[in-house]
Amino acid sequence: MTKREQAERYKRYATPYYLYNEALLQQTLDTLTCEMGKDPRYVMHYAIKANANPIVLRHIKAAGLGIDCVSGGEIEVACNMGFDPRKMVFAGVGKADWEIKLGLEKGIGCFNVESVPELDVINQIATETGKKADICLRINPNVGAHTHANIVTGLSDNKFGIDMAHMFDVIEAANAMTGINLIGLHFHIGSQITEMDDFIALCDRINELQDMLDARGMSMKIINVGGGLGIDYEAPETNQVPDFKAFFEVYRKNLKLREGQELHFELGRAIVAQCGTLISQVLYVKDNTNKKFVILDAGMTELIRPALYDAHHKIVNLSSDGPTDTYDVVGPICESSDTFAINTQLPHTQRGDVIAIMSAGAYGETMASGYNCRSLPKSYSLNDIMAD
Ligand code: LLP
Repeated sequence: MTKREQAERYKRYATPYYLYNEALLQQTLDTLTCEMGKDPRYVMHYAIKANANPIVLRHIKAAGLGIDCVSGGEIEVACNMGFDPRKMVFAGVGKADWEIKLGLEKGIGCFNVESVPELDVINQIATETGKKADICLRINPNVGAHTHANIVTGLSDNKFGIDMAHMFDVIEAANAMTGINLIGLHFHIGSQITEMDDFIALCDRINELQDMLDARGMSMKIINVGGGLGIDYEAPETNQVPDFKAFFEVYRKNLKLREGQELHFELGRAIVAQCGTLISQVLYVKDNTNKKFVILDAGMTELIRPALYDAHHKIVNLSSDGPTDTYDVVGPICESSDTFAINTQLPHTQRGDVIAIMSAGAYGETMASGYNCRSLPKSYSLNDIMAD
């Protein structure tokens, strides 16, 4: 099928919508589970915040991954999809009482606890309901990451986690609580990280902390290093599956696990980003004195990443092969930041052309909003569109 025939097929469905390539997702999961399976101590909890679409979750469940949740809503979605609550972790700096109760009722595997007051509340609720909560303490490792400032989480100025300086006091407090069963330590330094040195710095920090634990005769069953592995937004077609091998090797080489210890991960983006594309159509091409604007029917309401993080997503005109021109590609929302690309080269573009915004499977659909009273985007599987 030619690019143009594909574009015509996509147009049979009202744009804008998310299109998921299940074959690519499956290939990504196969690579992931193959690389991870090389070490039986490794456990993956998919960060469902990246994408909670049932088309995607079906594959993730079949691959046997657990789930990393950050809200009661995510716990509900994961349970409704049939994920085993014991294979779920629950993080977040602000867990509401109802969410803690829900987590306890469902019997989720681990609360990743981010502060002492939260620990007190979990202990109180667990004790009242005659339960014991398995928890990891989320430690803020004060390790930076080379990524956008809005998605760095592991610096001491960030709101996440417990100060390293307080770690031992909190461990002692947790061990004394009747409703709490401390099973490990949790870390997460940020997202869209492509420099493996950042993960090495995290390993070094964890090694230091574990040496200090050893010196006090303490041990943890679980070390959870969170997620963060980045993907290639510049050339998605040549790097469809992230280099999971290199990622796990960083941990294999640099993190000193103790006897019997499990290493848990919470990847989100790396698993789902490349399998999702935002499909839209050109409403108008506006030829101003300074610039040509391609105005799409998709905007920041469907994909907020460019507006929020200056994120780059590759833009492809599926309907045109003509000579290229320079355009700003923008959405219809009443905000100047509703811009997908500035001064980008596209083949000659006109009204009705189908535009694919690539690498939109992570933090695309889940971050969609109803701003300007717009409807939330629909989603389809590429399989269905091709079979139609
Ligand atoms: N674990 C924790 C505790 C997290 O906070 C996150 C992401 C993850 C795991 C998964 O990280 P990943 O493997 O996907 O990098 N909306 C932003 C990304 C925010 C990430 C928030 N936390 C974006 O669109 O770039």
